[in-house]
This record gives sequence, C-alpha cells and structure tokens, in this order.
Amino acid sequence: MDVAAPSLAAAARHKLRVPDPCAFVIFGAAGDLTKRLLLPALYNLAVGRLLPDGFAIVGVARADMSDDTFRKQMADALRQFATDGVDPRTLDDLIGRCHYVRGDFDDAATYQRLKARLGELARSAGTGGNCMFYLATPPDLFGPVACHLGDAGLAAAPKGAWRRLVVEKPFGFDLQSACALNKELLGCFGEDQIFRIDHYLGKETVQNIMVLRFANGIFEPIWNRDHIDHVQITVAETVSVENRGKLYDHTGALRDMVPNHLFQLLALTAMEPPSRFDAGAVRSEKLKALDAIRPLRAADVAADVVRGQYAAGRLKGKMLPAYREAPGVARDSVTETYVAMQLAVDNWRWAGVPFYLRTGKALAVRKTEIAVKFRSAPLALFRDMPVDSLAQNLLVLRIQPDEGAALHFNAKIPGPEVRIENVRMNFKYGDYFDAAPSTGYETLIYDCMIGDPMLFQRAVDIEAGWRVVDPILNAWRNSGGRDLCSYAAGSEGPTHAQDLLADGGRQWRAIA
Ligand code: BG6
Repeated sequence: MDVAAPSLAAAARHKLRVPDPCAFVIFGAAGDLTKRLLLPALYNLAVGRLLPDGFAIVGVARADMSDDTFRKQMADALRQFATDGVDPRTLDDLIGRCHYVRGDFDDAATYQRLKARLGELARSAGTGGNCMFYLATPPDLFGPVACHLGDAGLAAAPKGAWRRLVVEKPFGFDLQSACALNKELLGCFGEDQIFRIDHYLGKETVQNIMVLRFANGIFEPIWNRDHIDHVQITVAETVSVENRGKLYDHTGALRDMVPNHLFQLLALTAMEPPSRFDAGAVRSEKLKALDAIRPLRAADVAADVVRGQYAAGRLKGKMLPAYREAPGVARDSVTETYVAMQLAVDNWRWAGVPFYLRTGKALAVRKTEIAVKFRSAPLALFRDMPVDSLAQNLLVLRIQPDEGAALHFNAKIPGPEVRIENVRMNFKYGDYFDAAPSTGYETLIYDCMIGDPMLFQRAVDIEAGWRVVDPILNAWRNSGGRDLCSYAAGSEGPTHAQDLLADGGRQWRAIA
C-alpha cells in the first residue's frame, strides 16, 4: 500500500489552500526523476485540484526540441509512469501547460532565453512572475545552475512575487563539500528561498512520527531514558546497485542513506516536542537532536560502526552477482553497500540509550522501521512461576512497506498456570485510511508551492548530518578497507553487525 496520497485526498476534503500561480521550471527535464516522479506527482496534484489556474511547466535541457516534441515526451512519460492510469482531460490540460527551453546549463544565454520565456508566461499563462526552479540535474550542476540563475536576475523576484530553488539529493559528498555548496547557493538565493529535498520527509509514515509522539498523551511521558532501553532504526533494501554502479561506487551506503534519510528518522524519534507545529520550531528541535549526537573518534568508529559489501547470493529466488561484478563498479572496490552503527544522543532525555542504525542494499527484504525497545518489567512477581524472563515491550513504527505501527506486550496464556507470551497489537494504515496512489513527491511539491519549508532542510540541518558522518568517512579512508565485511546478497547483512549490540545483551530485530 502506498500511503502518501491520503494527504491529497484530505487536502481536497479540507479545501486546502491552492498555491499561488507559478511557473515550475525543471532543470534536467529529460531525466528519469522528471519522468518517473515529478510529472506523475504534478498530475496527481492536478487530479486533487491542488495546482493553481495560472500554472506552467518549463523544462530546460540540452536536447534540441520544440515545445510540441517536449509535450509529446512528457505525455508518453505520464502514460508510462502515472501512479494510477490517466484521465485524458487532466492529461491534456497538464501537457498543454508544458513549455521547453533548450540550452546548456553552463551557458549564460540559456538563462536569458529562460528569462524571456518566463516573462511571456507571466502574462500568457498568468503565472504572476512566481517561479520554482527545480534542480533535477546531476549534483555537480546544483551550484553552477543556481549561480547562473542569480546572474541572470532570476533569483530576485519582482515585487509581490516569489522565487524558490528546489535542490535534490545528494547535497554534498562530505561536510566540506556540503558547506561549500551551501555557500555557493546562499551567494545567489536567500536561505528562505532554498528548499533542500529529502524525499523521506514526503512519506506519510515519516510525517506521522511526530503525530504519534505528540498527538497522543501516552507515549511522551515514557519516551526517555527512564523507560526506553534502546532504539533500532532499519532501512533495508532488496534492490542492488543495478545500473547505478559507477555513481554508487563513489558514494556508498553511508553517504547515500545516513546523513539524510536515517538521520531524519533519528531526529524525529529523538527530538523534543516543538513549541509550535511550524517550520521554525520543528526544524530547530530536529537540529538540536542531531547536534546532540556524540561525535565519533577514530577509535569509536572501529568499535561502533560496521561496513559491509554484498557478495553473490540468492535474492528473491535468483542468483545476484557480487557488488564487485556490477557494471561500473571497480573489481577491487571497498565501497560499502551496508552500514550499521551505534550512536549516543547526549542529552538529558537520551543519556545512556543507544541508537542503533543500519541500512543496506541486496538484503533479504525491503523494510524501513523504527523499533523502540522499552526496559523490562521486574521479574519478581513471576519468579516462582514457569516464567524464565519477561520480553521487553516494543513499539515498532513501520515506515514502509506494510505501513503501520505495532505494540508488543506480554499476556497470560489462557489456562490454569500463569504462563506468559509476548503478543502484538497491530495498526495498519490501510485498515483505517483510503490510500490513493502517489509518488511520494506530491506533498513536497505542494509545500514548496505554498512556501511551507517544514519538510525541507536548511543549510545548518544538512551540515549537522555531515558533521556526524565525516569522522566515519575519515576513519574508513585511513583504514583502507581492512574492516570491510562481506555478506551474501539476500541475507540479513554481515554477521559482524550483531557485535554492535551484543555488549548490552541486545539483538537486532530480524529483517526477514
Ligand atoms: C535514495 C538513495 O535517496 O533513496 C537510493 O539514493 C535508495 O539508493 C532510495 O534506494 C531509497 O528510497 P525509498 O523511498 O525507496 O526508501
């Protein structure tokens, strides 16, 4: 079940604000992101009546093509990637709003042509001079495109209008490059104009973490070191690197997943209740949680972080060749496709409560979850009964798939003896809410159009994530891959990852 769309259904029901008229400019309009996600998301917004009347899509790319050819490409892409069939009238309307500007991204003339076209559209399409510039380009172009937009005077909005820049992931390669990119972008756009995307924040189940914690009275009083033993955050994927080998080999699981997606889950789990449900308060509390992560020293990295790379193995009934055999990957690559770590969040709420994080590719199943394990009840009362131990209470937030939450607790097995078994109370989104198909980008695009930055990252948030990860990257660079563990594709990851928890007598939850 995909649960991103109920927000759209809800939006329509609650007559959510329709965004201001605007032009949605996509750099990299011929790419996969545009075809698979952005356009289908815009289509879903159109179906939900959440696009303004004055709306135009402007694709910018290198290929030489006319508006008509671009429209045909976009229509074909929409028919192929729409999340749930297409209504011909909505499709025609959306495609009729598509325009194309050809040009090299490093050529100032491209931006002059774009400026002229946006000027025309402000009148002919009624976009009112508002523009959203979406950088769906390779990351090395984020800075240059932003600077060209600035130089062409496109970052500065005419009076009463707005200009926003949407930046995709990856944002930087390490702390230094992330800071440099922030500096470059902030040289052309103001912080309040920049919307840095982490698509995990577009997931309903991720947004629901705050609702679960702060809209219920029962969790917050026990959400601390007095009651919680530890937290496990898992993002397991079955996908391998497929055809991304060349890019992935320079990235690895740590950079690809941890400072962004896993840290968003950690921050939402660990943050203090914000004083208001608004972007400023929520983002400050999340930042404080990330800033409280105890910095790892080189010696900690060896003990607290495990990296692995998949070897050949059987995945979903088929043999998957080893990572090193994947196209574009160096045969002696030491790039990790799996990483697990133990982190300490050093503040009054969490002192002494380990946060265990793990993510990997080519694992046995696809599963993203946050498991909060509570301290055991004292066994005293049941000591003279046939009870060896009491299972710890566990709250599992299932982010995807099978979205929902489960509370595990102990119950008496019916019968004359007192025997105890661990049982599960299970909530599934699908049992309660209608789910319309979605790409997961609808809320993010909508929020950007209405100018709500809560689900986007500021420069400081991005840098806080890299600050935690940087010492790991440095330690790994120095160790030269000696600590890289192997795991079979289709398995639960390297067995060595168990050692991270073993000290405290804890165990990872089974993935499969
Ligand atoms: C992306 C990573 O950011 O997130 C991919 O670059 C990863 O490697 C993907 O597969 C996971 O996203 P999701 O939404 O499928 O969990």
